[in-house]
Amino acid sequence: MQTIKSVGKVGNLKVKVDSIETASYHAGIGHTRWATHGSVNETNCHPHISESGRFVVIHNGIIENFAEIKKSLIEKGKTFQSETDTEVTVQLFEDIFDGDHISTLKKITKKMHGAYGLVFIDKEHPDRLFGTKKGSPMVIGFGKDEKYISSDYRALIGLIDDYIILEDGDIFMMTPEEYTILSEDKEVQRDHHGIDEDELPVELGDFPHFMLKEIYEQKDVIREMFRGRIDFEKNTLHSDTLEALVQENIEKITIVASGTSYHSGLVGKYYLEEFADIPTDVIVSAEFKYKKKFIDSKTLFIFVSQSGETADVLDSLKIVKEQGGKVFGIVNVPGSAIARTTGRGLYTRAGIEIGVASTKAFTTQVATFLFMALYLGKHRNLDYRKYREILENFRKIPEVLEKVCEQKDTIQGIAKKYSHFEDIFYLGRGLELPIALEGSLKLKEISYIHSEAYASGELKHGPIALIDEKFPTILINGDTSLYEKNISTAEEIKARKGTVLGIVSENDTKKSSYDDVLTYPSVHSDLDVFTQTVILQLFSYFVALELDRDIDKPRNLAKSVTVE
Ligand code: F6R
Repeated sequence: MQTIKSVGKVGNLKVKVDSIETASYHAGIGHTRWATHGSVNETNCHPHISESGRFVVIHNGIIENFAEIKKSLIEKGKTFQSETDTEVTVQLFEDIFDGDHISTLKKITKKMHGAYGLVFIDKEHPDRLFGTKKGSPMVIGFGKDEKYISSDYRALIGLIDDYIILEDGDIFMMTPEEYTILSEDKEVQRDHHGIDEDELPVELGDFPHFMLKEIYEQKDVIREMFRGRIDFEKNTLHSDTLEALVQENIEKITIVASGTSYHSGLVGKYYLEEFADIPTDVIVSAEFKYKKKFIDSKTLFIFVSQSGETADVLDSLKIVKEQGGKVFGIVNVPGSAIARTTGRGLYTRAGIEIGVASTKAFTTQVATFLFMALYLGKHRNLDYRKYREILENFRKIPEVLEKVCEQKDTIQGIAKKYSHFEDIFYLGRGLELPIALEGSLKLKEISYIHSEAYASGELKHGPIALIDEKFPTILINGDTSLYEKNISTAEEIKARKGTVLGIVSENDTKKSSYDDVLTYPSVHSDLDVFTQTVILQLFSYFVALELDRDIDKPRNLAKSVTVE
């Protein structure tokens, strides 16, 4: 058995792996660690090895009671190499190993609390992988002459023909020839899922980064979101799922999500209240999970997630389901845990998103919320003229997004100018506040510039103290009823020597109120969030490019947050 570890980019590991002879090996395990316990160094990297050197493990998740397990093993005389929670799993495994891998796995899972996807190798049986999962995703993929296990089937595209999804509590054992899955002591079969043709490995093509490629793809994926759902010629909407929902007479909605998906939920709230006339709350999943819940037959809980695997969202969903609440998913990845657990919902159809900073997932979530709000609204009080007006303009979104992308050189020029600041403010009101929040998140994620987003009206209540010539503001000010109020905000900032970059419509008549402007072709004040978002995505992208950041894989971030 050989163990190879490396810190930093996976490319560093590849160099080490390429330098060794692997032809005689039959099985291997590997893990990119996202540090939860212990600093980023080689000792803390997976795999971890039992004291005797016989067992090795990789682990995705967190063992919450690792400290007490570690203490009891140390009392028994075991010595630990790393600071990680993961190492206790393999030390514990060795400590209670009874000669049978499966029965030992059952015993260790009884002692561990938390989330885990665990894969072990026993040096005495080097052709065999075995493990178990709870809370963390795991799939087994089937290639021509080999099998794979992974936390995400998309990591295996190009290597496998189909895959199965393991359920919580499943224990698996596999060799190149065969595999077994046990659930509650019984052997079970899990359904096989094929790989769609459009899921072939995603290539960068002529783009320098996946993020830029995915920003450009937004026009296409929004069209994809429309497909079969909206007939623009006849002004009709189609969805069996929403038709069934209409019959349930929902009176209140609570949206639960994290990060960028939470921001799309805030736009969703606006649409659901405005067009469907349904009072809607939005809450960050990590907060929702631990707060008092109000569940009744008239409240719908919508769980929004690109990956469909975010632990906080999934845990919140399970709690609502257990308590008998009505659940619904707005998810990008088909067959993901949140999609499976909600059992009903709408797929956003953004396709595979590779850039860690979410872009096309956001705009397709917003489009899905708009579709849903119009559908529900049509069966409630939404005025038909208003319905048609929104629908006619919804149709134009893909083409205006294309126009915004054509302005990339102008956006890059402005981004260059703002890339020298250390702090940037984002302000917006009403529907544009979530766009300010999302713009700010995108900037901090990929450029590491400190930024804050506030409701413009809150500026006077404290944050204005920060404004000076070193702290510029990006003010989103579309053609809404709050336009003049934002102009006053711009004046207040300039009076304190702050620089203001306005994100405004091409037809804006007060462009001189700002130091700089980036403009978009306005289609409708309720729908300009799409173009405003794309301008801010491109702005963040070019700031990060100017600063030579690792745009597709920003430091400290993981694409899918499967631990709490
Ligand atoms: C930001 C970003 C994250 C995710 C968040 C939720 O660019 O990607 O904030 O939006 O971790 O992830 P999903 O949508 O997969 O549940």
